[in-house]
Amino acid sequence: MTIICDGLRTAAKINMNTHPANSITLIDTHTHLNDDKFALDLDEVIQRANEAGVERIIVCGYDLQSSRDANDLACKFDCVYATVGVHPHDAKSYDKEVEDAIVELSSHPKNLAIGEIGLDFHYDFSPRDKQAAAFEAQIDLAARLDLPIVVHSRESNPEVMNILRSRAADISGGVFHCFSGDSDFAKSVLDIGFYIGIDGPVTYKASQKLRDVVGMCPLDRLLIETDCPYLTPVPFRGKRNEPAYVRYVAEEIALIKGLALHDIASATTQNAMRLFAGRAQEAA
Ligand code: NI
Repeated sequence: MTIICDGLRTAAKINMNTHPANSITLIDTHTHLNDDKFALDLDEVIQRANEAGVERIIVCGYDLQSSRDANDLACKFDCVYATVGVHPHDAKSYDKEVEDAIVELSSHPKNLAIGEIGLDFHYDFSPRDKQAAAFEAQIDLAARLDLPIVVHSRESNPEVMNILRSRAADISGGVFHCFSGDSDFAKSVLDIGFYIGIDGPVTYKASQKLRDVVGMCPLDRLLIETDCPYLTPVPFRGKRNEPAYVRYVAEEIALIKGLALHDIASATTQNAMRLFAGRAQEAA
């Protein structure tokens, strides 16, 4: 089990140049392959991802069950890694018992981070004070465990930033997953040392603000994600999203930056390694 479950930490030591120069390897850093929508054809979905060059896939938990499922998938598939955490939608259920379970789940050898956690003032499925309390508790937890965090923020960027700033000294890095904000806000995210996660919407006509963020963001701070089954990029918008399509996100970033797809692939892969396996690399 340890051999199967030690992949990214081992992979962090692999020289990425061993791949042929023309091959593209990508990491989809945020997926929900633990969603029911993948129950019937997960093997094929993962095979298509691997064929498209997506060599590693991070499955994010959003409550206890989905976090358990993320860990199970990480054990089942070599290329899958997990994060565990309680999403703001479910913050009302967060208590000591849930916290203990998250700590336990985070000790899985292929768990890379605490997440996704944060605030969501669009849906407000949990009262805002409960969202803030669960977010703060899980940031403190991640700091204690020396794990990075995967942050969800919807219509709550200033409030999320206030909480992160108040704890910045303790946090072991993180990503603003599915970034939605303007270039000024992106600067403040970069200032606290976080990465910026870019998803399918960067390919949508109406997303000029997001393309501007990609344009200003240093290449060494971008991560690519699908957030599948949601947020399907063009040309598959309207269908179920899957990790193979993270390539379209990378291609759009390449266009914006005026660089080759290969450059975007290698930079975003190194960024993911640095954020999620950084300490393992240092220890190696
Ligand atoms: Ni997500």
